Amino acid sequence: MLRPGGLLVTVTKNTRRGGRLVDLAAATRRLATDTGFAYLQHVVALHVAIRDGRLIRGRRSGSCTTSAAPTRPDGVCTWSLTKTSSSSASQSPPEAQLMGEPIPLSVWPTAQQTSRGQRAGRYTPASIAHPAKMLPAIARQAITAYTDPGDVVVDPMCGIGTTLVEAVHLQRRAVGVEYEPRWAALARANLRLAAAQGAAGTGAVHTGDGGRLPGLLPADLQGRVALVLTSPPYGTSVHGHVTATPNHGVTKRNDRYTSRPQADGNLAHASDDRLLDAFTSILATARRVLRADAVVAITTRPWRRRGVLVDFPAAVVAAAERAGLVLVERNVALLAGLRGDRLVPRASFFQLTHVRNARTRGTPLRVIAHEDVLVFRSAQEQT
Ligand SMILES: C[S@@+](CC[C@H](N)C(=O)[O-])C[C@H]1O[C@@H](n2cnc3c(N)ncnc32)[C@H](O)[C@@H]1O
Repeated sequence: MLRPGGLLVTVTKNTRRGGRLVDLAAATRRLATDTGFAYLQHVVALHVAIRDGRLIRGRRSGSCTTSAAPTRPDGVCTWSLTKTSSSSASQSPPEAQLMGEPIPLSVWPTAQQTSRGQRAGRYTPASIAHPAKMLPAIARQAITAYTDPGDVVVDPMCGIGTTLVEAVHLQRRAVGVEYEPRWAALARANLRLAAAQGAAGTGAVHTGDGGRLPGLLPADLQGRVALVLTSPPYGTSVHGHVTATPNHGVTKRNDRYTSRPQADGNLAHASDDRLLDAFTSILATARRVLRADAVVAITTRPWRRRGVLVDFPAAVVAAAERAGLVLVERNVALLAGLRGDRLVPRASFFQLTHVRNARTRGTPLRVIAHEDVLVFRSAQEQT
């Protein structure tokens, strides 16, 4: 029935079954790709209104639950996704009816400031060179949501230490592992800066493979980890910084995790399959150090390869399940700011170029303005 270039748009919701989150979006995507469709876009339709630069729960977001959520946020609003949807977040649900205590939402306003603004004065200036840092506000939100002061937070692929720095500012005990000595050194420098600024938690960084985490944790922290918060590497094409000079084109820099040969152990250079296998074993070993009610939170987003969207979040869910974890929650960390009743885009050069090129070719792509925060618990504890 479709004309050439015609689009299939599907709308789905994540649902809970027996304490698990069923990833219907991924199932729908698999069905569509198996029947010959190319995956183009993943749009989040918010079930919250934006008012005065804030997210307000709408009256009709009735899918918020309190009892079914097994993790710390007491209320979790489901969210929908569409592919190449023409709906937009500005179609807000009815006015908010929020009284008393704020209700935790699955949409996190994590880009109220730019990435640079969030780091200014809090991280060493050299940290900017890392090609794929987590937004500090995402780390803060996850640590606050899933742990208490004094709890142990680990990141087995800690980069320049965003998880660790935010954890120590929130009075947690933080341990990280990073493969690249350069980023590990910066993570240590960032922890020293945090301590100098009065951060009350403690932090340590080990250089090496993330799969060695259990052997690197001090004896008194074994089995006491409350939160693993991490983001896996995902290739180099979408990273880095760009300088555009009139008549001289564009110069790309800070777009590599490492200058070592590609055959080394940095998973950023691995094939998708090897990256996911190695990530699975890093998660499986991390599971050994978790306390019973611990949470594993993984920030990730889809990326484009030759115009087609790679459903990396679904691959991460599959990897985590192979590692003995169960998906219990899926949050949306906004990469766009909230101003008044609108979303303010903070798209990178790469995203804008991809989207502009696609639109010129007649494919109505949109700039991705969110990151998935996938939340898991150990399968043992969940059953
Ligand atoms: C997406 S980045 C994490 C960035 C970090 N969240 C931050 O804000 O700085 C992924 C990191 O994993 C590191 N990495 C790659 N392979 C690794 C391995 N086998 N063990 C530990 N870290 C690894 C990369 O060098 C990179 O710094």
